Amino acid sequence: MAFVLAVTGSAVGLGNIWKFPYIAGQNGGGAFVLVYLACVVLIGMPVMMSEILIGRRGRRNPVATMELLGKEEGSSANWKWVGGMGVVAGILILSYYSVIAGWTLAYIVKSATGVFAGASAEAVGAEFSGFVGNWKAIGLTHTIFMALSVFVVARGVERGLEQAVRFMVPALLILMLLLLLYSINSGYFGQGVAFMFTPNFELLTWGSVLAALGQAFFTLSIGMGAVMAYGAYLPEETSITGASAAVVTADTGIAILAGLAIFPLVFANGLTPADGPGLVFNTLPLAFGQMSGGVFFSTIFFVLLSFAAWTSAIGLMEPAVAWIVEHFHKTRAQATVLIGGLIWVLGFGSVLSFNVLADTTFLAGTLFDNVDYLTSNIMLPLGGLLITVFAGWVMCRNSTSDELGNSGMLFKAWRMLARFIAPIGILIVLVNAVL
Ligand code: PFF
Repeated sequence: MAFVLAVTGSAVGLGNIWKFPYIAGQNGGGAFVLVYLACVVLIGMPVMMSEILIGRRGRRNPVATMELLGKEEGSSANWKWVGGMGVVAGILILSYYSVIAGWTLAYIVKSATGVFAGASAEAVGAEFSGFVGNWKAIGLTHTIFMALSVFVVARGVERGLEQAVRFMVPALLILMLLLLLYSINSGYFGQGVAFMFTPNFELLTWGSVLAALGQAFFTLSIGMGAVMAYGAYLPEETSITGASAAVVTADTGIAILAGLAIFPLVFANGLTPADGPGLVFNTLPLAFGQMSGGVFFSTIFFVLLSFAAWTSAIGLMEPAVAWIVEHFHKTRAQATVLIGGLIWVLGFGSVLSFNVLADTTFLAGTLFDNVDYLTSNIMLPLGGLLITVFAGWVMCRNSTSDELGNSGMLFKAWRMLARFIAPIGILIVLVNAVL
């Protein structure tokens, strides 16, 4: 149970409530959502199981685990570079994740002080652009969020947070249901549902398919060794398949709920689904602002979302911190301050992407867009590809069936997905979208 809670805490975060709706909106909805769901089941699930089983077998940080198992399975110590890429991906993701998490912190205060009470769509939009346009303001909230994350990881009190996740996920679910009710009553629910679930495959480019794949990896926290790092603490007798299924279901459910709550609001208020990273901040406060008890619910909502981001941030730091502690024999506190400081500095690239450097674009867009693209759409899928190849082809059948604990249908299905469907699927999408 503690393991499922820790992994759920890492998986459920900004990816579900902030990122999923805005990426779905930018990619035309319907067909994108369908591809995302297919990626979650056919690729996400086997990658997650592979990561956990590798982590449990290696019982070390992801770098050392891949090195050890690579040698043990008669392959090569160079598999450690897969772990190394995960360490780098975690650092890069947290550098911008913390900036957005800082926004949610600020929105706790804005909600509690009644900024959104009865506000119009224009007022809510202006509040958002005014806030992110001020680099000092979002630099400060980024700093506060990183300080909170470093504090928890340095003291090694993450274990205590698992108990909090037990409360946070259901509470978040209840508030999402409340928003859903509001959306259903907005008169635009049908339009929101149609946007999310009516596929128009003509709109689907390879770029959107890659975005769906990247989102599946990001939201499930896979492809970078975070789940592997948690797997290292998993007892022998726990079912990896059961734990993965529970996490995947909870995570996907919350994302779909967020979409169902947000898109009707978008249409009801004449906003556009392709609004980008501000989508959630421009829609949900609007809904809260109009419901009775809205100040209270809005405040609680952003507290829960910040908390969800916090438990994810811990997962993002874990591979890097565990590696520094074990490889360089530093204390946990030293390693965390070092990694946290690095991430904090890098984060200013994303802080400035929303104001001073907003017009400085290259490749995928602003600096923020590029870090996001590189990590979600390239590094995580590539990591997932190598992880499934390792679990499906490098590790011998007995090693994996030992860990997955059965040789029946489920094991056969996992092996089929891990050996063929997942790696080949990832490769096809990467090649078509990137090259
Ligand atoms: N899954 C998290 C989210 O959806 O917000 C983000 C994340 C956390 C990605 C931890 C990767 C990770 F290791």
